[in-house]
Amino acid sequence: MTIQIPRGTYDVLPEDAVKWQKIEAIAREICALFNYKEIRTPIFESTDLFQRGVGDTTDIVQKEMYSFKDRGDRDLTLRPEGTASVVRAYVEHKLYGAPNQPQKLYYIGPMFRYERPQAGRNRQFTQFGCEVLGSADPSIDAEVIALALSFYRKIGLKKLKLVLNSLGDPESRKAHREALIAHFKPSIGEFCEDCQNRLEKNPLRILDCKEDHNHPLMVSAPSIVDYLNEASHDYFEKVKAILDGMGIDYELDPTLVRGLDYYNHTTFEIMGASQGAITTLMGGGRYNGLVSELGGPETPGIGFALSIERLLLALEVEKIELDADALLDCFVVAIGDPAEQKAPVLLNQLRQAGLRADKDYMARKVKGQFKQADRERARFVIVIGDEELDAQKAVVKNMADGTQENIAFDELTNYLKEKL
Ligand code: HAM
Repeated sequence: MTIQIPRGTYDVLPEDAVKWQKIEAIAREICALFNYKEIRTPIFESTDLFQRGVGDTTDIVQKEMYSFKDRGDRDLTLRPEGTASVVRAYVEHKLYGAPNQPQKLYYIGPMFRYERPQAGRNRQFTQFGCEVLGSADPSIDAEVIALALSFYRKIGLKKLKLVLNSLGDPESRKAHREALIAHFKPSIGEFCEDCQNRLEKNPLRILDCKEDHNHPLMVSAPSIVDYLNEASHDYFEKVKAILDGMGIDYELDPTLVRGLDYYNHTTFEIMGASQGAITTLMGGGRYNGLVSELGGPETPGIGFALSIERLLLALEVEKIELDADALLDCFVVAIGDPAEQKAPVLLNQLRQAGLRADKDYMARKVKGQFKQADRERARFVIVIGDEELDAQKAVVKNMADGTQENIAFDELTNYLKEKL
């Protein structure tokens, strides 16, 4: 019996891996532009971290975590998201004490959620995320949003919609929470079991319920905008004014509550062209209480994450092909035994000079070798046979325009480097 890949996961084969590399390279390039530094954290963490960080009334913690005990009887979980880990590392390494504040960080890596798999919803997926710790300046809220949009635009996506909301500070949230309980309590029996459990613990989660989203009480539920206190309202106005100044369009959506518990103040999502049931490409927001919740000093934070899987789907929907770069600088075609002996030596010289080079290993005829060079998207083909060996020269063919020149062996690398 053959063994198959686990449900909700996929292999990235070499042909697609180049797209991933390109996307990751653009993410790093944009982060450098905005001065965000990379942080790498483990793929598994203590289960407690996510229970406390993401929140134990969320779907992620209640239904979607890959949790296990290791051989030392420790409770561990494959990370379902990156924010809690980054904050844990920030506290553990006392990055709040570092001179360069705020800490502007980014990560790219696999996350794991036990969800029902479909296009754009995987059990292992790759997030690119940014987190800024240590600043409560509204221009940082605008900056992380601008960073994500710059990334998508650089990739080539056009159909993007930014949706914005504010959940306010703890005082505003408390007032809203009480209004939500009063609103849902009399009819809570009509809601699913999860919602019934969430009523007292975290009524905001009811608004995010996948089962009851059509219930009439959802539409008439008290809106957070009516409960923002003055400080929260002013903060949100500043964020919007900066986005306006940057020329970034957005839509306000007071029902945008997000599926994780740590948010307050600004929350946002970027939606893409419709890809079946899923349109959210990216999500994020402010989480001013999370650092202290995880044992650090009172520190503001904000960030976002997006998955490369959903980005690839959006590219498909918008019919955008990421340009395929040439994979090889040159391919050596050898004709006859002496040339076949020489080819590996020449190849070695080319590689040592920093050129991406390859040759045939399947005893192909000349035509087959040229075909292989083409498949590998080589920019130049270097042909050697008996005559070339006698003259110590190679025929160099430019695959783009078909022109060719004779070049002395010891001039080859200089010649190619100049042309490339
Ligand atoms: P999230 O909304 O749970 O937020 O996920 C962020 C993004 O990850 C989604 O918008 C989507 O692109 C992608 N994503 C989530 N689940 C899946 C899945 N099963 N398959 C494919 N893609 C998926 C967070 O994770 C927060 N940590 C974001 C954040 C960072 N907030 C502040 N800082």
